[in-house]
Amino acid sequence: MHIEKNVPLAPLTTFRIGGKARYFCRVETVQELEKAARLAQDEEMPVLFLGSGSNMLISDKGFAGLVIKPEIFGIEFVERGGRTEVIAGAGENWDELVSLCVARGLYGLENLSGIPGTVGAAPIQNIGAYGSEVKDVTASVEVYDTKTRKQKTLSRLSCKFGYRDSIFKREGSPYVITNVRFSLAKEGELNLSYRDMREFFEREKSLKPDLKSVRAAVLEIRSRKFPDLEIVGTAGSFFKNPIVAKSVYISLKKKYPELPGFPAGRGKMKLSLAWIIDHVCKLKDLRAGDSGVAPHQTLVICNFGSARATEIKELADRISKAVYETTGITIEPEVKIIP
Ligand code: EPU
Repeated sequence: MHIEKNVPLAPLTTFRIGGKARYFCRVETVQELEKAARLAQDEEMPVLFLGSGSNMLISDKGFAGLVIKPEIFGIEFVERGGRTEVIAGAGENWDELVSLCVARGLYGLENLSGIPGTVGAAPIQNIGAYGSEVKDVTASVEVYDTKTRKQKTLSRLSCKFGYRDSIFKREGSPYVITNVRFSLAKEGELNLSYRDMREFFEREKSLKPDLKSVRAAVLEIRSRKFPDLEIVGTAGSFFKNPIVAKSVYISLKKKYPELPGFPAGRGKMKLSLAWIIDHVCKLKDLRAGDSGVAPHQTLVICNFGSARATEIKELADRISKAVYETTGITIEPEVKIIP
C-alpha cells in the first residue's frame, strides 16, 4: 500500500471536478483497507472512500485528509437453491458485471445496464433505472466496520434500502463496502414496465425481448438521454425525484395536466423532476459558463469544459430555487457533495 500526496481528484470523478487529496491510496484487499482506515483514525484525519467517482461532486479545494480507493476485485458464481449467487468485489466495474451476468443468462441486473460506477457504490445509493433497483437482487453486503474495526455481513434488510437511499448513505455510517452478494435467477422474468422500454420494443417489432436485447435497449435509451462521459462531465441525475403527498400531486396536476407522477407508497407520489425542470421551469437550455443542464435530460447537470464545483453548485441552486418558486417543492441532491 502506497500513500501518495497531493493527488488531483478531478480525473478520478466522472464530473471531472475537484481539487487535490492531501493523501491518497489504493487498497486491493480488506487487510490493506483496514490498515489505511486505521492509519487515518490514528492520525485523526478525515477519510473519503472513492469508488469511480460517478456520483460525487468534490470541492475545488479538494479533500484535506486521506482518500481511500478500494480496488478489491474478484467475481465468483455460486449455485444456491435454484438461483445463482454472484459475489463481486467492490472495485469491479458495475457495467462489466452486468454484461457478464447477461452473457451467462442470469436475470436481475439487465435493466441496470450502462450505469457508470463500481460494484461497491451500487448499494450505497441503491442504484435504479428502467423499473429495477439493485436492492431487488442484493442478498447481502460485506463491509468493513471502521468503528469496531471488524468485517461484517449485512443482510438486505439491514441495509435499509430506499429510493436512492441506504444505511450506507446515513451521516456517520461506519461501513465501507468490500463485496456485494447478488442473488440472480436462471429463469427469470424480464421487466419491461418502464415507459421507455415499452416504447423501444413497440418500435423495434422484429426484436424479441430477452436478456441480451433488454440490455441493448437500455444501452440505447441511455445513449440518447445521457451525455457521453468521454466528452462531457456529469454525475448522472443531480437531484432525486421528489416524493410528495398525494394532495400536492393533485393540485399540481390541475395546473399541469401532463405532469408525470407515480405511486410511491403510503399515499405518496413520486414526481418527474426532469419534467418539472423542463416544462414548468423552462430551464432546458440553462447554461452558465461551462456548467449547464444536459440537452436531453434536465435532471443531469453537466461540466461542458472546465466548470468548477462552485459553478455547478450555483447552477443547482438556481434550479432548486426555480422548482421551489413554481411548485413549492424543496428538492434534494442525489449526488454526494463533498464540501
Ligand atoms: N423528461 C422531460 N424532460 C427531460 C427529461 C425527461 O420532460 O429533459 C420527462 C420524460 O418525458 C419522462 C420523465 O421526465 O416523462 C422522466 O424521465 P426519465 O424516464 O428519463 O427518468 P427520470 O425520472 O428523469 C430516473 C432516474 C435515472 C434513471 C431513469 C430511468 C432518478 C433521480 N433518476 O430519471 O437515474 O436512469 O429514471 O429509469 O431517480 C441516476 O440516478 O443518476 C439516474 C440517471
